Amino acid sequence: MSAITKQNYRGVYHFSPQAKWMNDPNGMVFFEGEYHLFFQHHPGGMTMGAMHWGHAVSKDLITWEELDVALFPDELGMIFSGSAVVDWNNTTGFFADKPGLVAIFTHHLDMPEGEPAVQRQSLAYSKDNGRTWTKYEGNPVLEHDAFIDFRDPKVFWNQETNEWVMIVACGQTVCLYHSPDLIHWTFASEFGEGIGSHDGVWECPDLFPLNVDGDTSNTKWVMLVSIGADPAFVEGSRTQYFTGDFNGKVFIPDGDSQNVRWLDHGRDNYAGVSWSDVPEEDGRRLFIGWMSNWMYAPQTPAEEFRGAMTLPRELYLESREGQILIIQKPAQELEAARIPVLSLKDVTVQEINASLSGLQLEAYEIVVKFARGMSAGFKVRVGAGEETVIGMDAKTEELYVDRLASGRHDFHEWFAGRHSVELQAPGEIYDLSVYVDRTSVEVFGNGGQAVITDLIFPKAESVGLAAFADNEETPFLSLEVYKLDQPAAN
Ligand code: FRU
Repeated sequence: MSAITKQNYRGVYHFSPQAKWMNDPNGMVFFEGEYHLFFQHHPGGMTMGAMHWGHAVSKDLITWEELDVALFPDELGMIFSGSAVVDWNNTTGFFADKPGLVAIFTHHLDMPEGEPAVQRQSLAYSKDNGRTWTKYEGNPVLEHDAFIDFRDPKVFWNQETNEWVMIVACGQTVCLYHSPDLIHWTFASEFGEGIGSHDGVWECPDLFPLNVDGDTSNTKWVMLVSIGADPAFVEGSRTQYFTGDFNGKVFIPDGDSQNVRWLDHGRDNYAGVSWSDVPEEDGRRLFIGWMSNWMYAPQTPAEEFRGAMTLPRELYLESREGQILIIQKPAQELEAARIPVLSLKDVTVQEINASLSGLQLEAYEIVVKFARGMSAGFKVRVGAGEETVIGMDAKTEELYVDRLASGRHDFHEWFAGRHSVELQAPGEIYDLSVYVDRTSVEVFGNGGQAVITDLIFPKAESVGLAAFADNEETPFLSLEVYKLDQPAAN
């Protein structure tokens, strides 16, 4: 008889719900010192079902406190994805005393067998920092006859035009609406016909401005669009992005947006959108994604819960080789989770491995630099027959993650694989930041331009770590290793 060991799949520094199923992040908003993270949640099961909005808050983007479920299904249907904003000027009339939160979400109503479900946009508001919610009595506030898929509203206040803007997925395009009060919406434009990837239904869009190269006089608008998994494509669900201009009504893509660009080149960063109302003096655009893929999400190994979010990330725009590219960095707050393990300079691979041997690490960060032209990297979560290989291939100038032997992959034939991304305009030094947790690796290369997020399911005892390089003589320029833990446990 074989014993089945209970695995602990809960990330040390990634958010997962206490129990049951989670998918998309929803309604991220910063208000009165708290980062709110709502999420698609089925509290009654380990796969998607009657969807609710779960709720968690954090003050530091590392430690999350899960609160009571925020939004429950009702006679208009389940609660699908959406956003939340602070109604600072009481445009809705919901907040006589002080500003509060408004959630704008999709009501998804299943119809009798054979008829398509109905998706409409609705509101709920909270006067107690998201702890309790009241659904707006006039729901739904926005419907559309032409689209079966009409969902995932992301709303922001447009300072130029003094009105709310909604971007919402409509089949395989996105639609833009505007409103003075979040209740009455006017159609402005549709975007997406003949541009970008149409390998699946468009979902979870976002639209926000960012400075290019940190220049406050040069702003571009970024549109994120997630595309659902079509069984014909081995990549499953992915998120693409466009850069361009936005005049309050219409999004005009840059010329170079004609080529499809992916936010992440791993398999497990989906349906991500950005935080609303991060104070202007902070100036950051913070993002979080669902760390899974509809291709296999319901089958991933799980115990009491299923689903995790990516690290919260900061998004920037940089111009490189005539293109404007998204640059991602883990939220700076993550540094508070660091416990230094190793810091080396000018060391050969043998010297590194001498220092790493005997270390048993489950959740950690590696920051490494080596000369361009050297193929090198790390094997992480190494154990009997298991390893996840992360490296730079100098011949192809690619960053890659190879999870072919990373642990359990029997739950889906396309889970095992090697994922790579070409570096755009690399400098003379290759840089890598690698975040390893119990069931994930997130790799940021080439200054955050090349990003790979992948789930892995190694055995708990696969805790080895080793460097490799094609050239054993050329030293790595620098290496830092940090154990990562919740700050309170430091
Ligand atoms: C994206 C998505 C959304 C939808 C939600 C339902 O992963 O399909 O389009 O609102 O999940 O849970």
